[in-house]
Amino acid sequence: MEYKSIALDGPSGAGKSTLAKRLAEELGFLYVDTGAIYRTAGLYAQRKGIAPSEAQKIAEFLPVLHITLSHGDDHRQHMYLDGEDVSDLIRRHEISQYAAAVSAVPAVRAFLLEQQRALAQNHHVVMDGRDIGTVVLPHADVKIFLTASPEARARRRFDELRERGQDVSYETVLRDILARDEADTTRADAPLKQADDAVLIDTTEINLDAALARLMQTVRERLP
Ligand code: DC
Repeated sequence: MEYKSIALDGPSGAGKSTLAKRLAEELGFLYVDTGAIYRTAGLYAQRKGIAPSEAQKIAEFLPVLHITLSHGDDHRQHMYLDGEDVSDLIRRHEISQYAAAVSAVPAVRAFLLEQQRALAQNHHVVMDGRDIGTVVLPHADVKIFLTASPEARARRRFDELRERGQDVSYETVLRDILARDEADTTRADAPLKQADDAVLIDTTEINLDAALARLMQTVRERLP
């Protein structure tokens, strides 16, 4: 059986995960959050005392880095580090910078690539990330690049963190978003960029329902 794949890339806070999840539900596809995989590697670096500035040190640990994921009955993607469910821990604000740092290490990307491809070989997937349409699934059936202004993205991330009870200012979130944009788009290996054949959807001025309608329309046009 040939499995269908939808690649959803874009910067942090554009609404990717919410929209990818809803799209996957609508289509009955598996939702794969690849950022969560990098976040788990980031958590590992933090636990090993590897500072973001020296992230390349994580390469030494790759032979013993054990990251797995599962999609449970609750339809959530659970992440495991050495068998421990770290799905909630990796969402903490401070893990973002570790994730961005380790994701710039080529050996880490190579190490995690096959795991991501294997999921698409065995399931219909909506995969969200930064390099899905360009590197992980260059032959994806549908590619979408989702973006929004940094301010709109910071506002959404800020609201989300507040909802989770994290005490952080909007200015801090905006600064972090800009720093992550810079890190994600300028790294040498698999930088964040729109694939030539991706459809651009900008969510600055539209709400999630309108964005989902656009996504669905794009998918219907491209998926028989
Ligand atoms: O989507 P997110 O914020 O959870 O991603 C966390 C970090 O992982 C982010 O800095 C970019 C990186 N990432 C990546 O390099 N490639 C991916 N496919 C997904 C995420």
